[in-house]
Amino acid sequence: MTKSDRANFGSKLGVILASAGSAVGLGNIWRFPFETGNHGGAAFIFIYLGCILFFGIPIMVAEFVIGRRSRSNTAGAYQKLAPGTHWRWVGRMGVLAGFLILSYYSVVAGWTLEYICEAATDSFEGKSAAEFIASFNSFVGNPWRPVIWLIVFLLATHFIIVKGVEKGIEKSSKIMMPILFLLLIILAICSVSLPGAGAGIEFLLKPDFSKVDAGVLLGAMGQAFFSLSLGMGCLCTYASYFRNDTNLPRTALNVAWIDTLVAILAGFIIFPAAFSVGIQPDAGPSLLFITLPNVFQQAFGSLPWLAVLLSILFYILLALAALTSTISMHEVVTAYLHEEFNLSRGKAARLVTGGCIVLGIFCSLSLGVGKEYTLFGLTLFDLFDFVTAKLMLPLGGLFISIFAGWYLDKKVIREEVSNNGTLKLGIYHIIAFLLKYICPLGIGIIFINELGLLK
Ligand code: TRP
Repeated sequence: MTKSDRANFGSKLGVILASAGSAVGLGNIWRFPFETGNHGGAAFIFIYLGCILFFGIPIMVAEFVIGRRSRSNTAGAYQKLAPGTHWRWVGRMGVLAGFLILSYYSVVAGWTLEYICEAATDSFEGKSAAEFIASFNSFVGNPWRPVIWLIVFLLATHFIIVKGVEKGIEKSSKIMMPILFLLLIILAICSVSLPGAGAGIEFLLKPDFSKVDAGVLLGAMGQAFFSLSLGMGCLCTYASYFRNDTNLPRTALNVAWIDTLVAILAGFIIFPAAFSVGIQPDAGPSLLFITLPNVFQQAFGSLPWLAVLLSILFYILLALAALTSTISMHEVVTAYLHEEFNLSRGKAARLVTGGCIVLGIFCSLSLGVGKEYTLFGLTLFDLFDFVTAKLMLPLGGLFISIFAGWYLDKKVIREEVSNNGTLKLGIYHIIAFLLKYICPLGIGIIFINELGLLK
């Protein structure tokens, strides 16, 4: 790929918005609450925050360093920085992970489009919690509707990747992100003031370590990688478009706190509402979609027009947040195919979109008509989620930290982190220490412990 058909982040704000746009998405608003609910609440969040701090931020800096130093796609990056070694497999594994995540992520992204329509046609009005659950289940079980939305969503992603309207995305993120933020705050306030919401707040804030189950460490670590878009070269690819004066550690810190704040806010929307209307917090992937309509319904029951307006706005913003994430994943795979296999950019993008549609259809059907077909007791959808978020991303993160902490010349990291000596180096020492010792050991121990590798 030549430089000219790649995105280029002109302003400092553009850099942060593009990276934050990749990070903030369904991972925060849909996946974080249901993983938190599956793993017992506050204790999970506590461990999650630790993973962000000790693994997420240093590994994000490492991806930035690798991407900006090499200025190429993620597999090409390792070839440039470590020619003739097997490190390129880390990049290739990342591309595969991106492809798989994009497939099932687009299924959920498609659901947001259905909910825009439902919100717009007033379908939430007068329904009880049980009816919201029933209508979600019948929608997901329908063999056609989710599939059509999935295809629509992937085609929208495709269009943006091919047309290269990053400028538009960048501009719209500038407006969209603050509105999303504001709306999340409003919804959180509404949710915590619902009757009986206290139990949900307690669930979020009071760690009950006795409720912690076996998968909690792996779950929290996987969620940290998923939410920050780490472990598959996504931010590495974005960093290859960064300017030379972009402050890498500061960008990483900004992305991490924006992303974490959105996730926590989502928690404060979902759990108080769930406890208020009696929805189980461990409802799984359906949690967001069965809980949120209750918030609109209950909090704005006396002002139906406001309920409709806010719910439409919310699902549109959610779909756009998902779109800035799917674009970032699509870009990783497209850039790889385009550069490494000499395909035209359009052809590469078509292959990615086509492949994701096929896999996505299977994922979508696995939640409905294909429910009985399971592997290791998981549907295809759940299997994709488990293998990517809990295995491939942390494994990618492990290798990235070893690559940056042990293989890569210290001089390279110091130059990139300090922008060739123009920035102070204080934080460099902390990051270098975390990358060299804490990340490899911590991730390794969690893997060994949770996957029962020792038994
Ligand atoms: N982080 C995004 C979210 O929270 C999803 C995402 C985008 C992602 N790019 C990624 C996840 C790369 C893992 C790897 O919705």
